Amino acid sequence: MDTMESTRSRLIKLLSQSKESYISGQALSEALGISRNAIWKHMKDLENDGYRIDAKRSQGYRIVSFPDKVSSNTIRWGLKTKWMGQHIIHKESVPSTQLIGHEIARENAPNGTIIIAEEQTAGKGRMKKNWFSDKEGLWTTLLLRPPIPPNKASELTLLAAVALREALHELTNLPIGIKWPNDLLIGDKKLCGILTEMQAEQDRIDYVLIGFGLNVNQNEASWDASIRDIATSLKMESGKSWDKKEIVQTILKHFENTYEMYLNEGFKTIKSTWEEHAFKIGENIKINTFHDAWTGQFLGITDEGALIVESQEGSPITLYSAEITWFDR
Ligand code: BTN
Repeated sequence: MDTMESTRSRLIKLLSQSKESYISGQALSEALGISRNAIWKHMKDLENDGYRIDAKRSQGYRIVSFPDKVSSNTIRWGLKTKWMGQHIIHKESVPSTQLIGHEIARENAPNGTIIIAEEQTAGKGRMKKNWFSDKEGLWTTLLLRPPIPPNKASELTLLAAVALREALHELTNLPIGIKWPNDLLIGDKKLCGILTEMQAEQDRIDYVLIGFGLNVNQNEASWDASIRDIATSLKMESGKSWDKKEIVQTILKHFENTYEMYLNEGFKTIKSTWEEHAFKIGENIKINTFHDAWTGQFLGITDEGALIVESQEGSPITLYSAEITWFDR
């Protein structure tokens, strides 16, 4: 961060803290160690960037509202979390927010740090697939340092799906389902994908990166032909555009609550919420393994997040990785 940026961030922080009341130019100039004229120039810059500033000759300055744009300052304003997202890295364009996540995690970034990019040039999906990441979506990585053993990390992926679903449902009221293990769908189209990556030693996790890609304001025409039939966005489903900053704030709040509940009470509640919203639960699904193909009823998930399917002979079978036919397209 260069000096210009850090003075500006400190200025925004001071003004944000005082919310309704005014801070005089003199007080700001003393707190930041710059002239009153420099403060005035910063205010003009903020206004140009979409901040609404109320300036009163006798009282000083106050921020009335932040711009709609996503930035670390606009996310922080109105963010109601204790630790989740209190450190924010926001970039215009990066290869992948996961790569930045690994870098900063190795440099000891704290639990709850988030990385957001407006656009990714090499977005990563699961199973080494590419992830479409234009400027209309929300591409985010959360860094966690969970005090749990590495063999429980898969629970965090399911937790992420539950927290994201709840946040998006609260905001949009759209009928969002969870497809095993952790895609969010509307109908049979994908709204959001989650990628979990972990760095661990034998018995302890160093860090976990939970990356989620949420399609927000894309239209039909935004998609590449290869995903047009299988992808959807909040805008396509609701008919209106969404404020990405508000979405991030709501997700972070739900994530923090769900994660704290998980650390206090364990996986049980999360598992039942996951099952409540699971795509095709109770229905027949087709399983293709290396040797054969069969149809069974999807009953739920185990504590490790594996799939439980009842075969036609009536015995429950646990599946860790099998190719499942979810759709008849
Ligand atoms: C999937 O295959 O469904 C998972 C997609 C995960 C995409 C997100 S976007 C933010 C983060 N950065 C990446 O490069 N990937 C994840």
